[in-house]
Amino acid sequence: MVKTAVLVSGGGSNLQALLDAKLFGELKNCELAAVISSAPDVYALKRAEYAGIPSYVVDAAIFPNRASFTEAIIQKLHDLDIELVVLAGFKRFLEIQFFRAYKNKVIVTHPSLLPVFSGKDYVGISACKAALDTGVRYTGATTYVVTDDPCSGPIILQKPVPVLPDDTPAVLQRRIMEDAEWEILPKSLSLMCEGKVTISGNKTIIRETQK
Ligand code: GRF
Repeated sequence: MVKTAVLVSGGGSNLQALLDAKLFGELKNCELAAVISSAPDVYALKRAEYAGIPSYVVDAAIFPNRASFTEAIIQKLHDLDIELVVLAGFKRFLEIQFFRAYKNKVIVTHPSLLPVFSGKDYVGISACKAALDTGVRYTGATTYVVTDDPCSGPIILQKPVPVLPDDTPAVLQRRIMEDAEWEILPKSLSLMCEGKVTISGNKTIIRETQK
């Protein structure tokens, strides 16, 4: 079983999708070993508690800079012998040292169809607002593996979602989560833990996605 940590910052709805998938046997060869939050008192921590998963707070607010926060996150992951990390609604930027320490072992869910609306200006709901501002008819969600750039990487799975005429950023964000992210994130994690994802340059090769 691959010891996996889920990094969160808020409500934890993506975490919940992973917890549910685990409960229903859909996360193969994966141990959800820890939930680490960048903030105290967030609902994601309650979700971990209800599911019986150990949770930890590495409070970004108490660190003087991003480098020391990043170091604390790496230390916590090492202390817990974590092999794979999921950034699931994690709202803090980490230094490159983190991605080097866990090279090809960090997966992310992002609310757009990469490569559009990616980068530091398009975190979370900003990517949904950008979809509305540019008038695209479809957006969606992407999961990817971080290699060098934390904001993009070899794509694991994508799912499109329509943009509807009366959408607000929040309504569109919710549709992307419900119809895409909560489906492709657990599938992506399972594929990674099953060893079915191979990174080849800037792409992934996925074995046996269909059974
Ligand atoms: C949403 O912006 C979603 O699109 C992004 O993370 C946010 C949800 O956070 N990937 P959470 O999982 O409910 O904490």
